[in-house]
Amino acid sequence: MSRLALVTGGTRGIGEAISIRLKKAGYLVAANYGSNEEKAAVFSERHHIPVYKFDVADFEACKLAVETIRSELGHDIDILVNNAGITRDNTIHKMTPECWHKVMDTNLGSCFNMCRIVIDSMRVNNFGRIVNIGSINGQAGQYGQVNYAAAKSGIHGFTKALAQEGARHNITVNAIAPGYIATDMVKAVPERVLEKIVARIPIGRLGEADEIARGVEFLVADEAGFVTGSTLSINGGQHMY
Ligand SMILES: NC(=O)c1ccc[n+]([C@@H]2O[C@H](COP(=O)([O-])OP(=O)(O)OC[C@H]3O[C@@H](n4cnc5c(N)ncnc54)[C@H](OP(=O)(O)O)[C@@H]3O)[C@@H](O)[C@H]2O)c1
Repeated sequence: MSRLALVTGGTRGIGEAISIRLKKAGYLVAANYGSNEEKAAVFSERHHIPVYKFDVADFEACKLAVETIRSELGHDIDILVNNAGITRDNTIHKMTPECWHKVMDTNLGSCFNMCRIVIDSMRVNNFGRIVNIGSINGQAGQYGQVNYAAAKSGIHGFTKALAQEGARHNITVNAIAPGYIATDMVKAVPERVLEKIVARIPIGRLGEADEIARGVEFLVADEAGFVTGSTLSINGGQHMY
């Protein structure tokens, strides 16, 4: 039987590309979203991928959703892609505690919530693939993003710690650190700022969502069982270390 992949934030942007690519590769796919029902419905109908609305920042909602997916699709989650994420940018002297906590809970808390919930069946099944979507800005920092950079940086530490716990259960845990990708999130950046960003990308353009999805497809394969605790940077050469 095919493996089941759950992609959080899997109906738009990078997550949409991941869902589509994994489906084409032969996996069963379930896609989560947070609020944009219209977009999720169009996505689901077009790609024949079931969608599940829940807030990844809410542990109980995640738990209920995983149980629903398990019973509706008749399969444990073998592959988890923690992709859902938001920005609430501002310099720290203008940032509200609410914007700090919202980004921490949605971008980093979600990784704990989802991993905590799927880890039990992965351990029982002696198989799991987890990919957490970090960011170049979690590696290098970014002006106006102390919340986002802290959450994404946290994802990279979380990944390395969980990789050590999962290893003897054949559960691999890796991260991808995308650079600037042409999605709604980046389109929200003011044009003049975006021009400056593109000027700093050696490849000379924004990345495409499917270029991140290709990395996910590699990391979740059964054959990638020796790759764990790593961070794959896909950023057009913008940041190397
Ligand atoms: N775009 C980039 O350049 C870039 C660079 C580095 C890292 N990343 C990371 O890559 C990931 C995807 O980014 P993107 O640009 O594709 O974002 P996007 O186009 O804004 O899409 C975000 C997705 O996350 C979902 N989502 C947001 N909050 C959620 C919540 N609380 N519960 C469940 N789902 C939620 C959204 O659902 P709705 O459709 O319902 O709103 C949507 O499907 C994020 O983690 C982001 O930080 C992006």
